[in-house]
Amino acid sequence: MSQPSSAYNNSESIYYSAYRPPLHELILSEVLKGRHFKTALDIGCGVGASCIALIPYANTVIGYDPSQAMIEKATSHPTITYTNRLEELPDYCDLLCFFGSLEYIDTVMLKKYTQRLNKGGCLICCDFEVDYASILKLVDITIETTDYNHAKNLSNYQDFQGFKEQVVKVESTSFNCNLEQLKSLIGAEFEHMGKPKDLLDSIQFDQETYELKAALYYSMYIKH
Ligand SMILES: C[S@@+](CC[C@H](N)C(=O)[O-])C[C@H]1O[C@@H](n2cnc3c(N)ncnc32)[C@H](O)[C@@H]1O
Repeated sequence: MSQPSSAYNNSESIYYSAYRPPLHELILSEVLKGRHFKTALDIGCGVGASCIALIPYANTVIGYDPSQAMIEKATSHPTITYTNRLEELPDYCDLLCFFGSLEYIDTVMLKKYTQRLNKGGCLICCDFEVDYASILKLVDITIETTDYNHAKNLSNYQDFQGFKEQVVKVESTSFNCNLEQLKSLIGAEFEHMGKPKDLLDSIQFDQETYELKAALYYSMYIKH
């Protein structure tokens, strides 16, 4: 694990509920391509952006996140049930989703989650990486790179068996956001990196809208 789950604290959940990039729907439309499931289990659901994007693909979505701050701010929807209690997760699901969460999950935890997936069920690993560095360069700020692996998937777990790989892809895209949305994105990033709060306030952004580049990562496996 490169970051402890406690890194997702109250401040970060506030930034997350203010804005998430419109990339969840795009990635799921690529990886799930019109499939439909009875029960989707979204592990590391944060404030629910990945659960909301899963709605068209499942009758029921269950969002789990160990961060109470995230679950408390999760977006309500009649199709979605949220919990931060492992013991409340269903024993069976036919879609198991890790959206931006796999980097925090070790082999022991992964087994606890995958044992809830039916045989023949589908496991997806999704993430995106927004290119903040080029935007911050415009205001003379350089951020250090981290060892966070956005492309992490089942192949990164040694001796992890029982799944057949169907898809592994990386694509690139871009999206527009306004200044407030940009500040939420960068605020969450700084919070996660442990940067001081006043750094964001000190940046003099001079545009009202920004185009951000992003890399999209997704892979899909079937349990046998
Ligand atoms: C980058 S956020 C992704 C949130 C959401 N899936 C989304 O796409 O907006 C990663 C989430 O993983 C959660 N997380 C951290 N450690 C975890 C673990 N061991 N098991 C499940 N989720 C975890 C964090 O609390 C955080 O909400």
